[in-house]
Amino acid sequence: MQNTKKLGAAIIGCGAIFPLHAQALAGLQGVELLAVVDSDPSKAEQAGREYGCMSTTDYRTIIDRDDIDVVHLCTPHHLHADMAVELLHAGKHVLTEKPLADSLDAAHRLLKAAANSTGQLGVVFQNRYNDPSVRIKQMIESGELGRLLCLKGVVTWHRDEAYYQSSNWRGYWATEGGGVLMNQTIHTLDLLQWFGGEIRSVRGSVTTDVLDGVIEVEDTAHACIDFSNEARGLFYGTNAYLVNSPVELEVVFEQGTLLQRRDCLYLWKDDQETLLCEPATKSAGAKSYWGTGHFRLIEDFYSHIRENRKFWIDGEEGLKAMKLAKDIYSSSNARS
Ligand SMILES: NC(=O)c1ccc[n+]([C@@H]2O[C@H](COP(=O)([O-])OP(=O)(O)OC[C@H]3O[C@@H](n4cnc5c(N)ncnc54)[C@H](O)[C@@H]3O)[C@@H](O)[C@H]2O)c1
Repeated sequence: MQNTKKLGAAIIGCGAIFPLHAQALAGLQGVELLAVVDSDPSKAEQAGREYGCMSTTDYRTIIDRDDIDVVHLCTPHHLHADMAVELLHAGKHVLTEKPLADSLDAAHRLLKAAANSTGQLGVVFQNRYNDPSVRIKQMIESGELGRLLCLKGVVTWHRDEAYYQSSNWRGYWATEGGGVLMNQTIHTLDLLQWFGGEIRSVRGSVTTDVLDGVIEVEDTAHACIDFSNEARGLFYGTNAYLVNSPVELEVVFEQGTLLQRRDCLYLWKDDQETLLCEPATKSAGAKSYWGTGHFRLIEDFYSHIRENRKFWIDGEEGLKAMKLAKDIYSSSNARS
C-alpha cells in the first residue's frame, strides 16, 4: 500500500559526498530534509544553514525523533555498520554510502540488524543506474548477442598525498578498510559482479605503487574473476594515474562486444561500431567520475519505501562487491 505521508530525512556526515545527497533530497517530492549531523561543528552548522534544517554533532539525537524516517550515512567506512545497526534497531530506513562496511564481520552484523528491522537498508551503488550499465545488464539478460564470454573493467584515477592528508580516515586499514579496492573501484567491482553473476573463483593482487609511505592501504590492484557461467572477468584499478579517466568497460558476447568509453556505450558488431547511449546530464556538483546515478538511486530508494517494496540494492546485494574486494586481498596475501 502506498504511504502518502511526507517522509522526514536526515544525513549523517557533511563532507565531500554530502551535497549530492542533500541536493537529491531537495529535488524530491514528499521528502523533507529535517536534520544534518557532523561531528565537526562547523561542517554541521554550515550544512544546516545551507539546507535550512536543524544541525547537530551527535547522531544519537536523531534516533529518537519520530519525524525522521530515513537516514543517509555519508560517514567514513568504519562507522557505517555501527551507525546503521543502531538506526535499524530504532526502525529507521538507512541508505548507506558504499562500501557496506569496512570488514566482513561488520557487514554480517549489519545484515543481521537489517533482517530484524522494520526499516530498510540500501547501499549507494549509483553506477548501476547509469544508462550504459542499465543497457549492458539488459543485453546480458535478453541474450540478444548470444552468450556472455568475458568482460573487463579498467579504472585509472588520481589520488595524491594531499588527498589522503585532507582527511583523517582515508589511507588506513582501521578506518577505510582498504584502499583503491574498497573506496574508488568498488563501483566497478560491483558492476563486474552484477553483470557476470555468481563468482566461482578470484585471483588477484594488490600493491602500493606510488603512495608507499603515505598510505597503509593499496593504491593499485588487479584481478581475474571466474564466474559460475564460465565467463571470465578481468579488472585493473589504480589511484596512481595522473588524471581521473572515465571508467572503461568491455563486455564480449558470442555475437558482439559492448564498450563503455568516455561514459558512452558502443556496440561493435559485424565490423561496425554503433553508439547505443550517451552520458546523461551531469548532476549538479557531481564529479563526472563518480557517475550521475545518485539522484536516480535516491529517488528509487524513496519510491520503494513509500510503496512498501524491498529496495533491490540491499545489504546482501551491497555485500557482493565488498566480498569481491576482500577476496582479492586474500588472494594477494596468499601469493605474496
Ligand atoms: N558513491 C560515491 O560515488 C561516493 C563518492 C565519494 C564518497 N563516497 C562515500 O561517502 C562516504 C563519505 O565520504 P566523503 O568523501 O564524503 O568523506 P569526508 O571525509 O569528506 O566526509 C565524512 C564526514 O563525516 C564526518 N564524520 C566523521 N565521524 C563522524 C561521526 N561520528 N558523526 C558524524 N559525522 C562524522 C566527518 O567530519 C566528515 O565531514 C564514504 O563511505 C565514501 O566512500 C561515495
